[in-house]
This record gives sequence, C-alpha cells and structure tokens, in this order.
Amino acid sequence: MAILKIARMGHPVLARKADPVADPTAPELLLLVQSMIETMVDANGAGLAAPQVHVPLRLAIFQAPEERLDPGLSQAERYDHTAPLTVLINPELEVLGPDIEGGWEGCLSVPGMRGLVERPAHIRYRGVNLQGEKIERTARGFHARVVQHELDHLDGILYPQRMGDLSKLIFESEARHWMAPEAQEELEEAQT
Ligand code: NI
Repeated sequence: MAILKIARMGHPVLARKADPVADPTAPELLLLVQSMIETMVDANGAGLAAPQVHVPLRLAIFQAPEERLDPGLSQAERYDHTAPLTVLINPELEVLGPDIEGGWEGCLSVPGMRGLVERPAHIRYRGVNLQGEKIERTARGFHARVVQHELDHLDGILYPQRMGDLSKLIFESEARHWMAPEAQEELEEAQT
C-alpha cells in the first residue's frame, strides 16, 4: 500500500471520461483500492475517485458517516443519509425527484477551495464492489452529494463546472477570515 499522488485541476486525467472496469475482482484492483483508502484517510477526504490518483477507471470510494447527520432526522431518514466506506465500480446514477439542494463542496484535486454546488437531493445508484457483488442504494443529504461528486470525476467533471454562481467559489483561508462562524461550519465537510 502507498499514499498516492493526487492529480490537480488541469491534469488531463481529470478531464477525460474514465474506462469501465473489465474485472472488478482482479487482484490489482484490490491493491489500488487499498492505496486509495490510505490516500483518502491521509488527506482527510470523504471520497476519492480513481482518476484523481491518475488511474482512468470507473471506480470510486466514499463514505457518508453518522457524524455528518443533521440531528433532526428521523431514524428512517438516517438510512438514506449514511453509507459505510464503499468501493463502487462501474456505477450508474438515477435522479429521484425534482428537488435540488445547495451545499459546500471541496475536492482534493482543487486544493484550498470551496464551492457552493446545487445538485439533485435524492438519487439512486448502482454498481458492483470488489467481490463483483451488486450494490444498489438510495441516497440523500451528504451521501447523495458525495456520490454525485465522485461519479462526476469518472466523467471528467470537477465541481466548479457544476456551479451556477462562481461568486460562491472561494478560498478556504479567506472563509476562515471573513465568514461568520456558523456559516463556516457548513464549509467543514471533508473534501472529496
Ligand atoms: Ni473531488
């Protein structure tokens, strides 16, 4: 295992459509994922897509932990809002319903910045894991956001390309100086 170098905005691997994984159970894929997890943890990220470590394959890892939950959610709502550390290979995304939600995002490939991005609030995704087993989940909240952010990486899209209002693309260091403390809390979401 190793901590991998992360490609930054401008590197062509982040701008191309990634290739499907032919064999999700291939041993070299397990090694890649182990290194990706180590890299994500080291960088304090909540998600990482293979193209971000210079591997143009349709594979991403992510998690949506309980700590991020809005305490006002019911038990049933919590289910869609959380996900364990997940390896998702050859994913597909389906938008469920017209609701759009704005949220601050960061990206390990766009270091030092945050942007307010509007995305569909309720989605379903499918894919397979490293054992070749099917994964199918519905997602809301941060869970829906992190999955859409990672799947965009597989299509060569970075979050600033999803922004309607670029005045909400800011440096974290400026936010720390100028934003109200309660607004800063929303920026604290880990990067993906
Ligand atoms: Ni990212």
